[in-house]
Amino acid sequence: MRLKGKVAIVTGGSAGIGAECCKLFAKEGAAVIAADMRPPVYEAENVEYIELNVTDTESCKNAVDKVLAKHGRIDVLVNNAGITKDALIQKMTDEMWDAVLDVNLKGVFNMARLVGPVMMEKGAGSIINISSVVGEFGNIGQTNYAATKAGVIGMTKTWAKEFARKGANVRTNAIAPGYVMTDILKTVPQELLDKFAAMTMLGRLGQPEEIAACALFLASDEASYVTGHVLSANGGMRL
Ligand SMILES: NC(=O)c1ccc[n+]([C@@H]2O[C@H](COP(=O)([O-])OP(=O)(O)OC[C@H]3O[C@@H](n4cnc5c(N)ncnc54)[C@H](O)[C@@H]3O)[C@@H](O)[C@H]2O)c1
Repeated sequence: MRLKGKVAIVTGGSAGIGAECCKLFAKEGAAVIAADMRPPVYEAENVEYIELNVTDTESCKNAVDKVLAKHGRIDVLVNNAGITKDALIQKMTDEMWDAVLDVNLKGVFNMARLVGPVMMEKGAGSIINISSVVGEFGNIGQTNYAATKAGVIGMTKTWAKEFARKGANVRTNAIAPGYVMTDILKTVPQELLDKFAAMTMLGRLGQPEEIAACALFLASDEASYVTGHVLSANGGMRL
């Protein structure tokens, strides 16, 4: 019960990596809020759903207010909601660029600027931002996505400093997953997935549960001296 008594918000908690974070955090004793645009694709005890569009500032504010009204605190925030719209740069439209920046960058900014100060005021908290191996190494066809996931690392390091001011024990870390079997990979051809698997030292793609386990560590007091860190969970991948 590593999160006993804690309250955790997971954006994009209805599917994929976010869903596994919600289920694991609940199993470890937390009251979990799966904040997503659509309802969860699973059922789990102690996971409640709040409708949220991370790109919409008002929607974020309503969701955070609801959680505070019901639970009175937020101990953990996982900024997990993310999308891709891939194309080579010469084919990348304004719409593709804007949509990915809106969710992956502004969405993370929106939630952290609401929740970070709440944690600071309480004196403690853990923010976990989901970046990507693509933010660390780049990837063909993902100019927009790479820009956002590298940006997430920059924001993580900034908030590790900003939210820890005035003696607040607020830690901010990022996880940079490699390729993990979720819906986000649906549009990636199998031969490319096989190539990505072969590029890892472990010779396989990741499972969402393996990323959730990293998030649990960073959320828990076991990571009490870890902040401003980017945890690469990619099977030893080099792009
Ligand atoms: N799966 C991978 O290979 C991989 C690798 C590296 C990083 N990531 C990152 O991990 C995170 C989770 O990805 P996933 O693979 O679980 O994806 P997924 O598509 O399975 O799930 C994403 C969830 O986010 C929600 N979402 C999308 N836009 C939203 C919005 N505007 N507001 C609220 N919720 C929204 C979706 O409804 C969905 O439930 C993303 O940030 C992604 O970039 C994934």
